[in-house]
Amino acid sequence: MNESPEYMQLFLELFVEMERQGPGDEQLARAVMQQVCAESEPDQILDMGCGTGTASLLISHLCNAQISALDNCQLFLDRLNEKVTSGGLNDRINVINGTMFEPPFPDHSFDLIWSEGSAYLMGFEPALKRWQPLLKERGYLFVSEMCWFADQRSDEAVEYWQAGYPSMLTEAEAIAKAQVLGYQVVSKQRLPKAAWERFYADMQNRIDQLEAKYGEQRALTDCRHEIDMYRRFGDEFGYLCLLLRV
Ligand SMILES: C[S@@+](CC[C@H](N)C(=O)[O-])C[C@H]1O[C@@H](n2cnc3c(N)ncnc32)[C@H](O)[C@@H]1O
Repeated sequence: MNESPEYMQLFLELFVEMERQGPGDEQLARAVMQQVCAESEPDQILDMGCGTGTASLLISHLCNAQISALDNCQLFLDRLNEKVTSGGLNDRINVINGTMFEPPFPDHSFDLIWSEGSAYLMGFEPALKRWQPLLKERGYLFVSEMCWFADQRSDEAVEYWQAGYPSMLTEAEAIAKAQVLGYQVVSKQRLPKAAWERFYADMQNRIDQLEAKYGEQRALTDCRHEIDMYRRFGDEFGYLCLLLRV
């Protein structure tokens, strides 16, 4: 994102107090972890772009794996560190400031990479390519990715995503790309609408708080616009959640 420091600061002030920094669903995450653990319990898990770590914390209660939680935003990681310490999870969750573009781990390190709302920052295909060597043999990648759901798309939605994520794929294209890269699709589902509603209710609440504090700001207007786009065109796009395996 090529925005001013003031814009980014406000953006982070908004997101750090949110439950999650991207939409996600606990029930879905639990079901995915059940699938992963059905065969053998993972030993090493990487939460890529973990934010304040909602997924890392949940996963730490669903298995006995060591979790590496990686993000490049220290503000989010500070918040996660507080939760890790207060939850007595210091020996389970290793919080790492690093970049997903050059993850600081040797090849074949992880049984599972967990990427909720983060692959798009590199682009779906580059992320899947770059992270694949980090997986152990038969390792899993769980990834949620913004995709087009509908063939009939409103001009306004197309224009919005053309500016925000021009390489956005259809669900079929995303699945085909994963398969061409050598991943097997274990399961696929759309993130439930209720998860988007929860996420945007939380965001709306933060926008209102920060607008009361700072008045109208472009970072806040942009977030309002995102909510509005989802409320009006949310049938046309959304997160495809894929459990992949090498
Ligand atoms: C949409 S949020 C998702 C956060 C979290 N996975 C969740 O679902 O709540 C994307 C996250 O990626 C992080 N991020 C952005 N660029 C990154 C990079 N180059 N390397 C690592 N993390 C990055 C952001 O700081 C943010 O926490």
